[in-house]
Amino acid sequence: MAASADVSSPPIPAILRKTAEPLMDFGLIPKERYLSAEFMDLEWQRMWRRVWLYAGPLSDLPEVGDYFTFEIGPESVLLVRSAADKVQAMYNVCQHRGRRIRPDGCGHARSFTCPYHRWRYDLKGRLIAAPDAGFDFPQGDPVACGIRVPQVRCETFEGLVFVNFDNEAPSLADYLTREVAEHLHSYRWGSDFRINLDWTVAWPCNWKIGVDSFNELYHLQGIHPELMDMSDDTPAGCPVDFFGQHSRFIYRVGVPGPRWDDAMARSRGYRDSNQITRGVRMMLKAYGLEPQPDWEGHVKELRPVLIRAARERAAQQGADISGLVDDQLLDDFHYFLFPNITLNISAHHFWLFRHRPHPRDPQRMLWDFQQFVRVRPGQGTPPRPPHQDYVLGDGHESRFPHIALAQDEAQAEELQRGMRSAGFKGLYLAHQERRIRWFHRVLDDYVSRP
Ligand code: FES
Ligand SMILES: [Fe+2]
Repeated sequence: MAASADVSSPPIPAILRKTAEPLMDFGLIPKERYLSAEFMDLEWQRMWRRVWLYAGPLSDLPEVGDYFTFEIGPESVLLVRSAADKVQAMYNVCQHRGRRIRPDGCGHARSFTCPYHRWRYDLKGRLIAAPDAGFDFPQGDPVACGIRVPQVRCETFEGLVFVNFDNEAPSLADYLTREVAEHLHSYRWGSDFRINLDWTVAWPCNWKIGVDSFNELYHLQGIHPELMDMSDDTPAGCPVDFFGQHSRFIYRVGVPGPRWDDAMARSRGYRDSNQITRGVRMMLKAYGLEPQPDWEGHVKELRPVLIRAARERAAQQGADISGLVDDQLLDDFHYFLFPNITLNISAHHFWLFRHRPHPRDPQRMLWDFQQFVRVRPGQGTPPRPPHQDYVLGDGHESRFPHIALAQDEAQAEELQRGMRSAGFKGLYLAHQERRIRWFHRVLDDYVSRP
């Protein structure tokens, strides 16, 4: 008897495996959390002080003595490479009278001297000198007493430094989940990527409006018309997954999705939806391909062509993409790491958005935008870009690397104004927006826990 042919389909790569949907209700998300100082205070006491927070890139601390500050809510944390193999975090506050030890920013130091009365700390935060220490402190010589700036937990992951104010919190690895850690590791961020853009933009809205804005694709057809001819924003085409407190969608890029029908194509000046669009042509060109004039196929059949070209181009450039599956070469793997990190990940670059609350005002936030690029062998490392501070509407939007970011940002103030209206009670979310629902559900779990 002949052996039967193996007709089983190839295993689904781990990064593409569907996760279980957590149970969620369907209620309105009440708007008060975007407005209330009491809710903001609860968030600070019960959530921000208990979670792992991305502080900055490890590549900013190459030498012993390099440091940068991380401002979050009312706190400032000083991150410093205290030894060749050690990065430490401590509260950025002098133990004498409470002055901030270092202003916001970065630098290099052999020790930290508080500018007020010149108490001096070593890189581990231990007080090593203080004027008149030996005779004018009847309660005890502050140096001899072993005064030290309180430490903050600090761990690194794939070239990113995280801190946590809670000594009881799980490790960063447990917090991120094994799945997320493995998925992100496949890109080789830790070894192959460097930051090349670093902005902070002050937005006049609550920080959760920033988070919500990037946790759904429902708005694509609403405000990003130029993306419609080269991507799929439909719920069926955009798998949503959940990993512990975090979530992900995969935004399919390369060819248009099902919304791109003849009517939409004609409304954009095409003969029909088969034609190669401007967006697809741009992608082909990026990989050195020119669509043949006699191309008879459907534009959507070009996806495998693009994936193949992307892999070949990466190989020519010497980029190590051996850990990536085909979809990772084209699509935007879009992760949200609770509570405030949005990641748009492509094979050769990624965007990191960090949504920070304003120190005092629930109706303001700081939106950080960092871009990291893959450093190709022999190409050298791009210089560390200076950090740029902007305010919404000051003209920086024309310098975004993609127009979609300006379109997203333009919603921030209008959303917050709407939240203040008596005519609005809360968010009435679509199923495809359930990453927003999960984010608020996880937040509720934190703020309800004393
Ligand atoms: S407050 Fe820092 S030395 Fe006095
Ligand atoms: Fe958007």
